[in-house]
Amino acid sequence: AIILLAIVIIGGAVFYSWHVKKSAEQKDAQHPALPIPAVLKDTNPDPDVADFTLTAQHGKKEFIAGKTSTTYGYNGNYLGPVIRVRKGEKVNMTVKNDLKEVTTVHWHGLLVPGSADGGPHNTILPGKTWKVSFTVSQQAATLWYHPHPMGKTGEQVYKGLAGLIYVDDQNSEKLDIPKDYGKNDFPLVLQDRRFTKNGQLSYKLDMNDQVFGFQGTTELVNGVIQPQLTVKRGLVRLRILNGSNGRTYNLHLSGNQTFTQIASDGGFLASPVKMKKLTLSAGERAEILVDFSKLRDGGMLQLKNGKETLMYFKVKGKYTKSYSVPRKLATIKKIPDSKAVKTRKFVMSGMGPNVSINGKQMDMNHIDETVKLHSIEIWEIKNASTSMGTKKMVHPFHVHGVQFQILSINGKTPPANEQGWKDTVLVNPGDTVKVIMRFPFKGIYMYHCHILEHEDLGMMGQFEVK
Ligand code: C2O
Ligand code: CU
Ligand code: CU
Repeated sequence: AIILLAIVIIGGAVFYSWHVKKSAEQKDAQHPALPIPAVLKDTNPDPDVADFTLTAQHGKKEFIAGKTSTTYGYNGNYLGPVIRVRKGEKVNMTVKNDLKEVTTVHWHGLLVPGSADGGPHNTILPGKTWKVSFTVSQQAATLWYHPHPMGKTGEQVYKGLAGLIYVDDQNSEKLDIPKDYGKNDFPLVLQDRRFTKNGQLSYKLDMNDQVFGFQGTTELVNGVIQPQLTVKRGLVRLRILNGSNGRTYNLHLSGNQTFTQIASDGGFLASPVKMKKLTLSAGERAEILVDFSKLRDGGMLQLKNGKETLMYFKVKGKYTKSYSVPRKLATIKKIPDSKAVKTRKFVMSGMGPNVSINGKQMDMNHIDETVKLHSIEIWEIKNASTSMGTKKMVHPFHVHGVQFQILSINGKTPPANEQGWKDTVLVNPGDTVKVIMRFPFKGIYMYHCHILEHEDLGMMGQFEVK
């Protein structure tokens, strides 16, 4: 009887472990691979000139297996290619609008004259083409592009119109950090979405979305629900964009693993910052280095937002070249606040359809502020929204045509990872953020809350640099 019992126990254990292993494998097989966007082809053979063509078009995509949703995309079904440019390069951009509605393409974070900025004035009618040229004049950075038509930005981005811009320069090419695109240097576009029963993207805004910005129930990375990326043992660079309409991400790695932030919106930080948590509000970017060298083959790590899993990393093999995190990344010259010729105040207040900046709502025919070309100014940005219960009405403030430095948040020095170049800054309820910037080009630009529902409802203003 004892032998029989032993057989039953051992048999049970073997069966159980086989079963557990099998279901783990099945679960693993369920994660789709992380898609890596194509790099947009430069059709000009001159190394100092780039010719690019982008087409905003209709698409179809199976976000949920067996169910097809209609989408928008640039040169494809959903999202767009990475536009890779170099400091000093001249760029000729041709943008075609194959949609049935007006669109624009805005280069978020790129320093270009107002006429090339792609804001709500640079409309492209259906069937028409917008040709625009500019020269890249800024340091290496991870920027992005997205539509910006008056009142429709949220919906068009939501349907899939967004892509990344990589700026390279001498420093980024020289730095000894992972930079093989799609091998050890990966783009991660974070977005949240809601789907109908039929698997259609749904952008029906309720009161809650209007107040707090759209909050989806499903998380996408590069357009796919909870994908998996296979990496090798070693240091991996992740360029993360919060491409969601309204959500603020509180990112961390499973097991509370440490990572290192090396860049913010406008480029490399002066020196790397070790961290365990990273807050990224709508429109912001961060580049981080994650060390996978301690994981065994088959080892997994998750990128998480609070309790939710955004994506999985699985380790297989080892990179041939090993990297260590450099001590110094870039030289960031502080803009002295004594050089500022003016301090302007911006108060974001109101709720839902009543959101405003300085008591005004966006009016295409009204220039709210006039700024002198090449001058330095301090902008003091206040979020006057009062918290509602546990939900916070945050406003990520974005300024076109500049990269700024944060002087203070509620009078205090910003954290180390926010001391580099920025174009979007999270302003929490009740907070006041002071930023300083120089205005390098002439033209009409926008400043606005990057919660796209707030922007579309009027939390935007215009300034002219002249
Ligand atoms: Cu990301 Cu006004 O833009
Ligand atoms: Cu922008
Ligand atoms: Cu807002």
